[in-house]
Amino acid sequence: MDLALKLETTSTIPLHKQLYDELRQAILSGRLESGQRMPSTRALAKMLGISRATVLFSYDQLLSEGYLKTIPASGTFVACQLPDELLRTTSPPISSASPSCIELSTYGATLATVNLPPPPGQKPLINFSCYGKPALNEFPIQTWRRLLSRACRFSTTILDYPADPLGYKPLREAIARYLTQSRAVRCEPDQVAIVNGSQQALDLIARLFLNRGDQVIMEDPGYFEARYIFQVQGAKVLPVPVDRSGLVMEHLSTLTTPVKLVYVTPSHQFPTGAVLSLPRRLALLAWAQQTGAIILEDDYDSEFRYDERPIPALQGLTSSDSVIYIGTFSKVMFPSLRMGYLVIPRQLVPVVARAKWLVDRQSPLLEQHALTNFINEGHLESHIRRMRILYAERRKTLVQALTQHLGNQVTIMGENAGMNVMVQFHTHWNDEEIIAQAEQQGVELISARSCYMKAEDGNGKFLLGCTDLTSEVIQEGVWRLAQILKA
Ligand SMILES: Cc1ncc(COP(=O)(O)O)c(C=O)c1O
Repeated sequence: MDLALKLETTSTIPLHKQLYDELRQAILSGRLESGQRMPSTRALAKMLGISRATVLFSYDQLLSEGYLKTIPASGTFVACQLPDELLRTTSPPISSASPSCIELSTYGATLATVNLPPPPGQKPLINFSCYGKPALNEFPIQTWRRLLSRACRFSTTILDYPADPLGYKPLREAIARYLTQSRAVRCEPDQVAIVNGSQQALDLIARLFLNRGDQVIMEDPGYFEARYIFQVQGAKVLPVPVDRSGLVMEHLSTLTTPVKLVYVTPSHQFPTGAVLSLPRRLALLAWAQQTGAIILEDDYDSEFRYDERPIPALQGLTSSDSVIYIGTFSKVMFPSLRMGYLVIPRQLVPVVARAKWLVDRQSPLLEQHALTNFINEGHLESHIRRMRILYAERRKTLVQALTQHLGNQVTIMGENAGMNVMVQFHTHWNDEEIIAQAEQQGVELISARSCYMKAEDGNGKFLLGCTDLTSEVIQEGVWRLAQILKA
């Protein structure tokens, strides 16, 4: 029998794997027909000039996967029904109905109207548009790899459906310790819920607390990805202006209709970079207690304050249940980790657990395991310490370069904190022209218009990310921008 099997003794692929692949291919292509008797392992080994153990190994795998079957005292045969056939389903006929005939829910239809950012494509050389992107080359990837691989060796119970939708208990304990020490958040581990980034936290909270028509206060300008979530949930977003001390509180007292929720970024307002002053924090808490509104505190990059200690969280200033706190590992570690957390008042723990279970059961356990050790072994704090120095330097370079090359053609906003800088360019060019001219010079910019309720209020304003750019690149980028704006 000529099976036309090709084995390469010089290949890095083990012989038993090559033989398995060749035999499987011969079966699938019909060269070995169903029900056909296979040569004995001894005969095949002799025919191919390889050891019998190698053939046994390959036969065993084909048997265990259902490509071959043994009949006692008769031999080994190609299976009559192949596993690939059993695994494949027949495709349903393609419907002729056009997608526009399918009626979307209000959620789906609203979603279609929001302006989501395009997926990252080929980026030019100098990319200021990645605001809030950590310096990924600086992440201790070797340590992370080691911790992930340790998590895989842990036990196969880690592969099962999770026991608790709120997350891996040791991680919740580690986060509670970290938040108490470094953010002055008041919490016990059972109030911490692990979620897939801040975005999921916002989505869960919106589903749980907002009905169609409910009023939500947002900083204006503010985090548009939060605004979209509230809007697709049917809430009415009330914009409240922001000045150098954060949310302007006087506007709240003029409201005559009830407010269900206030979304704020007090430690480093997104996108202006203002820090909510202590008197305003206290006023906001008092107002929430008086009106029964929920405060949603998004503390997304508070670790990065460069000339002073990070400001304690709003949540820690009150013993009431009015604040729900959101944090993320996207900024202090890396965004594709998709790991964040909520700190919730104790009475809300059961309902958040139910919501998380229904949405996706629990966040991935291997990563939670590795993250626990990343925190407990001190890698997180050491990485934050290093990044605080690096980002401060990069921010300083950006601010100095803008001042040096653009002078009074630019206004730089915000405190010495965070991972992005908002600027206003004073020029006769409009935003599209600036973006197009910059692109021609290999510089990518992003307008801050999406952050404003009325997009035109953001005219001339841009978000500049600098944390993932070296000082040389930042200087070169700003110099190129200056040539354009001065032209
Ligand atoms: C205000 C704000 N909150 C949260 C995040 C982080 O989102 P996630 O945790 O979903 O990555 C960002 C990211 O840019 C942000 O700007």
